[in-house]
Amino acid sequence: MTSQKDYWDKKITEWSSASYGRKSSISFLEKVATYFRSVDKRKDAAIKIISPLIKNKVILDLGCGLGEFAFGILRYKPKKVIALDISPNAVKQARLFAKKKKIHGKVRFEVSDVVKTKKLPESDIVIGLGFIDYLTLPQLKNLFRMIGKKPYLFSCFEKKFSLFNLLHNIYLISQNCPGAYKHTRSEIRNIVPKGMKLSFITKDGLLFITNLHES
Ligand SMILES: C[S@@+](CC[C@H](N)C(=O)[O-])C[C@H]1O[C@@H](n2cnc3c(N)ncnc32)[C@H](O)[C@@H]1O
Repeated sequence: MTSQKDYWDKKITEWSSASYGRKSSISFLEKVATYFRSVDKRKDAAIKIISPLIKNKVILDLGCGLGEFAFGILRYKPKKVIALDISPNAVKQARLFAKKKKIHGKVRFEVSDVVKTKKLPESDIVIGLGFIDYLTLPQLKNLFRMIGKKPYLFSCFEKKFSLFNLLHNIYLISQNCPGAYKHTRSEIRNIVPKGMKLSFITKDGLLFITNLHES
């Protein structure tokens, strides 16, 4: 079976080009999937939520892909962005782009399987867009444990009956995605460590989990 790393190594260029509207050869299926996923809108919504908190902070972006979110927040003057991804291909492309744009001093891209890591890099705020969708509940529980009391924001696809979820699941099967999970709100609430805050918030029609309150 394909690993998450191999899946994303192959997939990330087309996924990212389709999701962020870059010119590239994109299959019909990916175009349709992109229409439903609203990835670019999700990035903008996340930026709206956390931009007031970013200045002089170290931001940790988990499952950063080609770095669209990491690059998108630089204008809010973080101290640094650390962006991790399991895919060496994604990290290579993100680094090249950062170098080309001469912004590599502000954003550090690293290959890392966040599921296997024992400790996250030091940071002030943890974020992940389209990331926890690839974590089982025990893996998500472990991630919450590593985050501790830090502010966090994750986009989230909720497990419930909907046309979107039906089509999304068909898409994932057709792509041989090695592991993608949707959890219910109560499943997520049940694995949050004692004392950790968690709210479900909707911004521009997109669902996030966070311990931040919207400003
Ligand atoms: C749906 S893409 C989202 C990319 C980016 N966050 C965005 O919104 O444009 C999911 C990303 O998570 C990464 N990923 C999946 N599992 C991971 C893991 N265990 N550790 C680190 N990255 C992972 C994939 O390589 C992929 O780049």
